[in-house]
Amino acid sequence: MIISKADKLKGCITIPGDKSITHRAIMMGSLAKGKTIVTNYLNGADCISTMNCFKALGVDININDKQIEIIGNGLHSLKAPDVELYTGNSGTTTRIISGILAGQKFESRLNGDESIQKRPMQRIIKPLTMMNANISSIKNNGCAPLRIVGSNLKGIEYNSPVASAQVKSSILFAGLYADSNTTVIEPNISRNHTEIMMKYFGADINFSGNKSTVSPEPILEARNVTVPGDISSAAYFIVAGLITPNSEICIKNVGINETRDGIIKVCQSMGGNIALENINNSNGETIADIIVKSSELHGTTIEGSIIPTLIDEIPVIAVMAAFAKGKTIIKDAAELKVKESNRIDTVTTNLQKMNVNIIPTDDGMIIEGGNEVKGTEIDSYDDHRIAMAFTVAALNACGDTKIINADCVNISYPSFYNDINSLR
Ligand code: S3P
Repeated sequence: MIISKADKLKGCITIPGDKSITHRAIMMGSLAKGKTIVTNYLNGADCISTMNCFKALGVDININDKQIEIIGNGLHSLKAPDVELYTGNSGTTTRIISGILAGQKFESRLNGDESIQKRPMQRIIKPLTMMNANISSIKNNGCAPLRIVGSNLKGIEYNSPVASAQVKSSILFAGLYADSNTTVIEPNISRNHTEIMMKYFGADINFSGNKSTVSPEPILEARNVTVPGDISSAAYFIVAGLITPNSEICIKNVGINETRDGIIKVCQSMGGNIALENINNSNGETIADIIVKSSELHGTTIEGSIIPTLIDEIPVIAVMAAFAKGKTIIKDAAELKVKESNRIDTVTTNLQKMNVNIIPTDDGMIIEGGNEVKGTEIDSYDDHRIAMAFTVAALNACGDTKIINADCVNISYPSFYNDINSLR
């Protein structure tokens, strides 16, 4: 994919549905009784992986352009799969479904692509084992492939060492099958879509601050879910609108859940002209239209409890920092190393190739903005967020940029390049 410099970006777009919420809607619909209809879902490879896993577990799921229709038969209706479950590139699918499989009456095996086979699963194996789950890494390396033999689970109170919604959700989903309440306490609040979705489907769940508690054996009722636009996908347009001269972009119906809105706060703290309009509620999630205009940005420090609320946006925030005046420091973000790629390495390598002054650190990076950003050849490392973040950089670089393996955007945003072009 070749990207050339943009003179301006103008117009209004509606971005696809939220990836995290689509996963959870498919999962809850599969465990509820009755017909769940999910609209504005994300038709990206990760969510298709979740759907295919539940189909292999015997759930009746039909999909068309407009909606996913799931006919669920309740919490105890899943069937032993005939095949190894394939989770593709999706950490969310792998980790959360493991919690569900731990409480079944059958054995299952699951595996994903090359990247998934390197991502840490010990972070779920440990707490699930504390719940009496029988889960192991088949190669004994703490990664997928995983073998899970269903067992009788017990409720636990788990103090998670890491703020991770995937870990928290894996434990909470297992908690639906436990013999007593299950509580997860996190060092910082991670995204709470699981809690909101469980409540919406009728589970008995309490969450406030960094503590979430679910009761076992709820009667889950099918629901209709309208998925908000994904703020992580909106982030590319937010940053592109701020750093490209003569630009004004309106992004419709974006989820602005406060456990996900760190990108908005960071843009504001860097001097970005960003406004929220038509604030509304959709199945317990807050949504809004986001309007951004070209801005003179300055550097900032991003650290501490805001990090989990923008963890997936750090690649594009690093790009934004390259176009801001002065220094931007990102710390407390060691989790970047265990995403679809090691994003401290992949962001640093690519920005350095584009002539940006950036130094990697143990838990983040330091960027000195202001150098002329130069078009070059960029490797996506098969990481969708790297491909999209560097497309945004390319729109403002002098000379063309070639993105290698650009089609990995299909993981979370298949129409990304069309949507970018529609604003030129
Ligand atoms: C996700 C949680 C985040 C995020 C990922 C999606 C989720 O991971 O990076 O893209 O849907 O729960 P962690 O919470 O494990 O950091």
